[in-house]
This record gives sequence, C-alpha cells and structure tokens, in this order.
Amino acid sequence: MYMYKVVGGQRLVGDICAGAAKNSALPVLAASLLSGGEVSIKLPDLSDVDDMLGILSCLGCRIKREDDIAVIDPSCADRWVMPEKLSKKIRSSIFMLGPILARNKNACFTYPGGCEIGLRPIDIHLSGLRQLGIDIEESSGMIHCRGNLIGARLHLDYPSVGATENLMMAGVLAKGETVIDNPATEPEIVDLARFLKSLGARIKGEGSSRIVIEGVKSLGSSAEVFCPISDRIVAGTLLAACAGCGGDIYVRDARAHDMTAIIHKLRQMGCQIIVSDGIRIRSSGELSSFRDIATYPHPGFPTDMQAQMAAIACVARGTSSITENVFENRFGYVNCLKKMGADISVHGRTAIIRGVKSLEGAKIEARDLRGGAALTIAALAAKGESEIGGVEYIDRGYSGFENMLSSLGADIKREICTKRCL
Ligand code: UD1
Repeated sequence: MYMYKVVGGQRLVGDICAGAAKNSALPVLAASLLSGGEVSIKLPDLSDVDDMLGILSCLGCRIKREDDIAVIDPSCADRWVMPEKLSKKIRSSIFMLGPILARNKNACFTYPGGCEIGLRPIDIHLSGLRQLGIDIEESSGMIHCRGNLIGARLHLDYPSVGATENLMMAGVLAKGETVIDNPATEPEIVDLARFLKSLGARIKGEGSSRIVIEGVKSLGSSAEVFCPISDRIVAGTLLAACAGCGGDIYVRDARAHDMTAIIHKLRQMGCQIIVSDGIRIRSSGELSSFRDIATYPHPGFPTDMQAQMAAIACVARGTSSITENVFENRFGYVNCLKKMGADISVHGRTAIIRGVKSLEGAKIEARDLRGGAALTIAALAAKGESEIGGVEYIDRGYSGFENMLSSLGADIKREICTKRCL
C-alpha cells in the first residue's frame, strides 16, 4: 500500500504533458483482439492497462512490451472464458465481450469490477448484443454468450460509453450493417473508431448521434504504432490543481476542443485560460465559485472531473453546487474534504459547497480514482501536511501523478504505508 505525503501551499509552474488517455487505451486494447495480425499501441503506464494486458494474455494473445509500446498478436487468442480475478478487478474488462464474441462466437465472463461509484450495470451492453443475434444466459454469477453476430438497428436507452464501444467492436465483424442510435459521443469513441478503421473497419458517424458500421469479414493489421489521444481528464486535473494552488502551467498536449465544459468553469472561477496547441492556465489562487456544475454525457461536464472541481470549490469565494447525473455514488470523497475543513453538504445527487478561507492538512484516504485525485488537489492547496492513503486507486488513472506534480513545484512524495490513513 502507498500513500502520498503532501505539504500544501506551493504554486504550480511549468510545462507538462497529460499523456495517452486511459479511456482510449483500454477499449483500443480490447479491440486489438479483432485485428488480423500484430498491432502496436502506445500505452500509459497504469495499473488498469497492466490488468487489461493480463486479460489479453490469458485469452491467448502474445504480447511484447518495449517501453511504452505494447505489440499484441491475437492470432492464437482462441480462449473465450474471461479470467475471473482480473475481470472483477477492472470495469473495462467488459469491453472484451464484443471482440471475444466476434472472434470465437462464444464468450463467458463474470460481472466486471472497478471503482465503487455506483451500480454500473451492463444491461445496455447485453441488450445490444441480443439484438445483434447473441444468446445470453446468466447463471450463478456467470454470463454465457454465444451466436453469430448479425448487423441490426440499435437504439441505446442511454448513451453509455462502454456499451457504445462494445457494440461498435461487435458490429465491425457482424454480418451486414449495424446502426447505433443515441450512442455516446465522447472523444474516446472517435479514437476507438480511428483505431478500428486503421485495421480496415468501415465505420461512419462516430462522435455524432448515429454510428453506422458496415460489417467486414475480417480486419487486417497495422504497421504503425497507434497513439491514443491525450487524456482530457488528466489534463483537466492538472489545470484544476493549478487553479487551486495558484500558478502558471502549460499542458502541452491538452485538446481544448474536447474540454470546453471544463475550460468554461475554470474561467468562471477567475482563471486565465489560453488555448493554443495545448492549454495554459494562470491562476492567482484566489478563486470565485463556479456556481453550478451538472455532469452529463459528452459534451456536457464530465463526471470524471466533478470531484477535482469540488476540491477547488472548497477554497473559492461563494457557494457552488455539483449535481452528479451520471453515477449515483460519486461523492465518496466529501467526508475527507470535510476533515480538511471544507463546508460541504450532500443532498441526494447534489453537493453544496460553501467556500472557506483555507483547508488544513489532514490524514485522509482515497476510495476511488477521481476522488483520490481530488483529495490530492485539496492537500496541495491546503495549509500544512497531509497524508493520503489509497494511492493504488490514483494509479489506476494517473501515471506517476506525484512526479507530474512535483515537476511543477508541488511538495508531494510517495511512501509505503502499512495501514489506512483514516
Ligand atoms: C466510461 C469511462 C469512465 C467515465 C464514464 C462516464 C472508460 C474506461 N471509463 O465508463 O471513466 O466515468 O464512461 O463518462 O472509458 N449504464 C447502465 N447500463 C449499462 C451501461 C451503463 O445503466 O449497460 C449506466 C451506468 O450505470 C452509469 C451511466 O450509464 O450510470 C454511464 O455509464 P457508462 O457511460 O457506460 O460508463 P463506463 O463506460 O463504465
């Protein structure tokens, strides 16, 4: 187990890169199962990525890793039973379902795991696959799927990111045309389509309200290294950290057009944001409230950024409110912020945050990925020293988070800990 020791109060200054997006890399890894030969993918150094590669290897893929590039050869991936322990560890294991079915006409798996941020059902994934001709039986916690994928017209009840990705991957090798209405439009969906198209898939409309896929018999391979887009949530987290601490940072690879909702809120708080190839933020550290944030599917405010915004709202002038519409259990970090002196009350899906003059360092514990990032931001902006346990959660989505922050001037160190900080 690891913890961060943070001494708050340092301004953040410098240039930095957010790196490859986890939420693009994970589905792209699943999609590598569909390729007709070797594919090379540039990957962020994250525990979720390691677990995903572990699953691919259990399914029979040959994997070579050189620095941040994985070369995956799925030609012997003829196993279709998902390894239970790894599947339960990460939510993205569910992305394997469409590709395994497309390859083997069979798939067997347990419900996926992931951070405890809500119920996270998979009904939209399963209902879409049923409409694509797959028989699905559930018995004693196991889900057995079998059948030939046949293109169909699908309408998603909710624009689920994971379900859209799964069904897109299933549609690529299905017989005939698959239409997905009301799909997710996140930039990572567009990136997955870019990867699939580089292998010969026929996809149109990704990023819009209708995706049309013309099934092909098989996909090819690609000689080029696939580089996922940069991580908009890591970029947003760094911007929020600078907003809260004060300073001047430039996130070189941040894609401003994917981050308009975040930029808008940071400007409302009084930060200067300059968009060029990347995003530069200048903050005095004296913030105003952003008034209200409500999370929605893209291009609405991303649920993966609400906790980080809550952390800086704690020290902003005035009252802010955050309504979480995507996941039902995403305020798990609030008690820790309160322990640091924040004034927050949660009413159902809405948190009301009344800004205080400053937060105080405390011993706190991360309980999920983005909540952990938010507590780190709060500790950086607070007076005094904090210990943040549960760094393993942060490692799921931020590669060397403490190194990124210390390169910008933060006083943060990783240490081994033997017990929880709380
Ligand atoms: C993805 C992201 C995650 C982000 C989330 C929402 C990855 C690896 N993860 O997660 O970081 O927080 O999008 O932007 O890309 N739902 C159902 N039934 C389903 C599927 C989803 O009811 O079959 C519900 C979920 O419970 C949740 C909402 O839909 O309330 C959004 O889930 P979804 O978009 O599927 O999120 P993920 O793909 O799990």
